[in-house]
Amino acid sequence: MTAVAEITFEVPDGQFWVLVGPSGCGKSTILRIIAGLDRATSGTVWIGEQVVNHVPARQRDVAMVFQNYALYPHMTVAENLGFGLQMRGVDPQTRRKQVEAVADALNLSALLDRKPRQLSGGQQQRVALGRAIVRQPQVFLLDEPLSNLDAQLRDDTRAELKQLHQRLGVTTIYVTHDQVEAMTLADQIVVLDRGRIQQISDPQTLYNQPANQMVATFLGSPPMNILPATYKQGEFRVGQHSVPCPDRLRLLLQTLPNLDSVHLGIRPEHVHIVPAAEAAHLNAEAIVVEPLGRESLVRARWLGSAVTPVLTLHAAPQQLVRPGDRLFLQFDLDQLHVFDPASGKTLGYP
Ligand SMILES: Nc1ncnc2c1ncn2[C@@H]1O[C@H](COP(=O)(O)OP(=O)(O)OP(=O)(O)O)[C@@H](O)[C@H]1O
Ligand SMILES: [Mg+2]
Repeated sequence: MTAVAEITFEVPDGQFWVLVGPSGCGKSTILRIIAGLDRATSGTVWIGEQVVNHVPARQRDVAMVFQNYALYPHMTVAENLGFGLQMRGVDPQTRRKQVEAVADALNLSALLDRKPRQLSGGQQQRVALGRAIVRQPQVFLLDEPLSNLDAQLRDDTRAELKQLHQRLGVTTIYVTHDQVEAMTLADQIVVLDRGRIQQISDPQTLYNQPANQMVATFLGSPPMNILPATYKQGEFRVGQHSVPCPDRLRLLLQTLPNLDSVHLGIRPEHVHIVPAAEAAHLNAEAIVVEPLGRESLVRARWLGSAVTPVLTLHAAPQQLVRPGDRLFLQFDLDQLHVFDPASGKTLGYP
């Protein structure tokens, strides 16, 4: 079985790139190949001006933090942090200074004398991060480094990481399956699925102009709604409902032969509850309402179709929606995405 195939990308010096994709898509494999822990069957890995295929991991000047990091259990936090420097013969005074600086940046100063077993999972994870940072490598390779932290600490550490990168400017490749981490941290995101690159882009472009349905539904929470539809002469049919096709999309779709069935994509934030049936594109029934404070998340079943996919949308707090309510829904037509149901490829986006 092939874990990853035809993976080509080039990270410019100093940038922060994120590899993102569902579990098993090959993220860790790619990172391990860059680090030198796995060997690719074919292809070339460059670090700077050097081909490193035959350079052992130790000599690649990369620091990797694993999904399952391991600290030295018999060493204190300070010793764990300083170990790499010690191995490279850095004198004790310089070592202490660098360890203290990193401990300070990661909020570990009060824990320097503890052993790993006296730390929480989150604290251990920050030590593992610190151990990589203190080495000042040419490249950071981080594999889900925040996965063991609770939600609050994950948000904080994420912001610290971003700040740290702004300060140090070390080229970083960061692996996560969390699309929020990907969006918030990355200069460029590489979206992977089943061992292949789906799209490489900056976060905003990925969000607005996804290359295919996988990228479209992977980025964004809750995910983009996908409605099976047919297209005929400037009009989409969704079940019994008619959704007009905006002019710009129409021009695009006209050029495609044999366009019959399509997948319509619309993000939850672009679906609105309207008071009257006349203005609505779709009628639906609310199934579940999840209050989030600033708004409510409504999951609705749209009516008048053989299949009944579920649609998510946001409702303002003053729009009191209850399960079972009939909803008239309007789409922001200029926010429609269209996908080829067979290949998943994007046929048109806003
Ligand atoms: N040592 C191995 N031998 C054989 N197959 C492997 C090995 N390690 C990983 N794989 C397979 O390669 C594919 C990619 O695995 P990889 O660990 O890179 O995924 P991932 O994207 O990091 O997933 P996760 O988000 O769960 O960590 C998976 O199908 C996995 O089962
Ligand atoms: Mg992994």
